[in-house]
Amino acid sequence: MPITTCIFDAYGTLFDVAAAARQAASEPEFAAIKDDWPQLAEHWRLKQLQYSWLRAVTNAHDDFWQVTQEGLDWALEKTGHDGDAALRERLLQLYWELGAYPEVPAMLKTLKEAGLNTGILSNGSPAMLQGAVDSAGINGVLDALLSVESVGIFKPDPRVYDLVGAEFNCAKEEVLFVSSNGWDAGAATGYGFTTAWVNRAGDPVDRLPWRPKHILNDLTGIPALAGI
Ligand code: LAC
Repeated sequence: MPITTCIFDAYGTLFDVAAAARQAASEPEFAAIKDDWPQLAEHWRLKQLQYSWLRAVTNAHDDFWQVTQEGLDWALEKTGHDGDAALRERLLQLYWELGAYPEVPAMLKTLKEAGLNTGILSNGSPAMLQGAVDSAGINGVLDALLSVESVGIFKPDPRVYDLVGAEFNCAKEEVLFVSSNGWDAGAATGYGFTTAWVNRAGDPVDRLPWRPKHILNDLTGIPALAGI
């Protein structure tokens, strides 16, 4: 069955989640994280994701903005920056304007010009997703911003992946689902989507019951996978 619909994870896939800590570290006021910003960014991301999974399995949902702040607070304490309220505020502000990876606008434009449906499916709250899309200037090349807030549980709960078929009225087999999160691409394979894992860091494949169908270094190969 041909691909009609290309769906993208947001954080880490279209938007560079390390950009907030990298940007703050380059600003003179926040020289305190000049050396350890990569560790701060990594702890922040890992805790944010762990907290999303834990909230899903314990039925204790709150939105991704809450979880993002909780992950940051853990990471700031872990790296010894927990007393720095100005740094905390700056990092959270930057999270709303991460910026897209350089190949994103042209890649999405190619998909739209070929007549495919395009969308985001993300843990992010609707306001976070709109902020990220606006600041990246990619509003016009996305048909839908689908947030887990519609179902009140985080990925990889299958009710989240159900949002795609409900929005675009398409079969699972018609969907190319793209994520930089190996666990998200794996779980989406199990769900029934055709999947692409964007593995920029050259990480090992996650040991899960399902594997991504395709593995790419960046997003430039997505139109070809979609049959363009
Ligand atoms: C998202 C997270 C998983 O955007 O990156 O859903």
